[in-house]
Amino acid sequence: MHNPGDATAAVICGIGAALPSRVVSNAELCTRLDTTDEWIRSRTGISFRHVTGADSSTEDLAVQAAEQALAVAGATSVEAVVLATTTPDRCCPAAAPAVASRLGLTGVPAIDLAAGCTGFLYGLATAVGFISSRTANAVLIIGVDRLSTLPARDDRTTVPLFGDGAGAMVLRRGRLEDDGAIGPVVLGSDGTQAELIQAAHPGSLQMQGAEVFRHAVDRMTSACAQAVAAVGWCMNDIDRLVPHQANARITSFVARQLEVPDSRVLGNVDLVGNTGAASIPLLLAQSASDDRLQAGQRVLLTAFGAGLTWGAVTLTWPELAS
Ligand code: UT7
Repeated sequence: MHNPGDATAAVICGIGAALPSRVVSNAELCTRLDTTDEWIRSRTGISFRHVTGADSSTEDLAVQAAEQALAVAGATSVEAVVLATTTPDRCCPAAAPAVASRLGLTGVPAIDLAAGCTGFLYGLATAVGFISSRTANAVLIIGVDRLSTLPARDDRTTVPLFGDGAGAMVLRRGRLEDDGAIGPVVLGSDGTQAELIQAAHPGSLQMQGAEVFRHAVDRMTSACAQAVAAVGWCMNDIDRLVPHQANARITSFVARQLEVPDSRVLGNVDLVGNTGAASIPLLLAQSASDDRLQAGQRVLLTAFGAGLTWGAVTLTWPELAS
């Protein structure tokens, strides 16, 4: 007879997402930047991004996505909250305790985690740790960013790339063989390249785009190969590749190098741009709701971001309530 306390895998049981209502098109950007719709679409694949106004904060977006994930999980509570962001509303205190309290979870462990656009994957590893260390039986992870606040308003090289959003996931204690169990999480960082993407404060983002592009392709490709090997699959087993959404050309290069056909690659960068730590859970939530992602499919997540940081992880998508 199994003792439920023996189960140490973290298993997905809920997913949710939130986007600000205001949509900014390339055409709108062209009215204030020296750029064209053609340049933005051909170099990045982006046509639209959602942007928060003064009426919505990072914490608001986080709460909205979390409420949806908790509802899908059929849960009114979890025992820990991990919030990944690079763009909190304030430096101190962390956003996670405030978000937890707004969700009625005052008292649970709640931390922020900053790992750039890889934050959600670092959050997954943290949630696995909370569950295996018996700190928690159920964990809420939120990836949320308002990256539209980082570029200088007139910087045509960065403004078109970024949007705002949030994604959230609920994980429960389960078994490694369960659908939804998080596989070995591959993570890495390289601080010698920190200056490739940096911002001292909102409005001051500096990015060496072409160099970042090269690192993103290399790091995500090798992290994917490691994650697939670590779980004992081969690349052809992957039904859905879910890459961080920074640039459609980065995604294409990674998929080509891994020999994953385009039909198996999920993307939404055309409609939301780069939403940072929200990118992966947002794409998962949207794809699960429009059936691009289905129960039983073998999924490979990968991300890359400022730090530099990167990661990848496998899982089999579970049956979730809609
Ligand atoms: O989540 C991780 C964070 N970031 C990323 O992953 C971003 C990775 N990098 C990229 O996505 C691409 O490098 C960019 C989209 C940022 C830039 O594309 P690129 O093909 O690497 O262009 P580039 O930076 O080499 O610039 C090519 C030209 C330059 O003009 P010159 O010097 O050749 O005359 C730029 O000034 O394109 C110019 N340019 C633009 N032109 C029109 C740069 N931005 C724009 C623009 N509109 N918005």
